[in-house]
Amino acid sequence: MIIETKVQVLLPDKLPAVDKTLVLAAQAAARKAYAPYSDFQVGAAVRLQDGRIVTGNNQENVAYPSGLCAERVVLFYAGAQYPTVPVEAIAVTAYTDGVQAKYISPCGACRQVMLETETRYGHPVKVYLCTPEKIYLFENSRSLLPMSFDQIPDEREK
Ligand code: THU
Repeated sequence: MIIETKVQVLLPDKLPAVDKTLVLAAQAAARKAYAPYSDFQVGAAVRLQDGRIVTGNNQENVAYPSGLCAERVVLFYAGAQYPTVPVEAIAVTAYTDGVQAKYISPCGACRQVMLETETRYGHPVKVYLCTPEKIYLFENSRSLLPMSFDQIPDEREK
């Protein structure tokens, strides 16, 4: 068996305005992260189906596992504030010492939450992983979590 994942590699300057706005929101959010232990400041921005953009960032804690990644902060915030509005896209980026990181990739737990956001609303959640020179676009969150553990769609309707 071969599992393939399609990834588009985009240039930041060539993004459509609507996506550029999302990326800029993620960058701004990263600068407000609370990451004194890792000094890896992550920002995430979500675009909802109504066009609204909400943001989050990583929130660390001296008891390390008590902290939370930027992606889950923003997705849980969106779910808490706008539970009926589907999530369309999420952009993620990171900074260290004020310099944008050349690499960013969501952890497994965040991928699981992205996947459930997509199944919950029955709407794909695009993922933009943003680095200074390239943006990696996944058309849906399921592609980031092959052989995922989740509910069978038909079962969810019952
Ligand atoms: N982190 C995120 O917030 N999102 C990611 O995609 C990768 C990692 C956070 C967790 C922790 O606060 C710090 O970055 C270092 O791992």
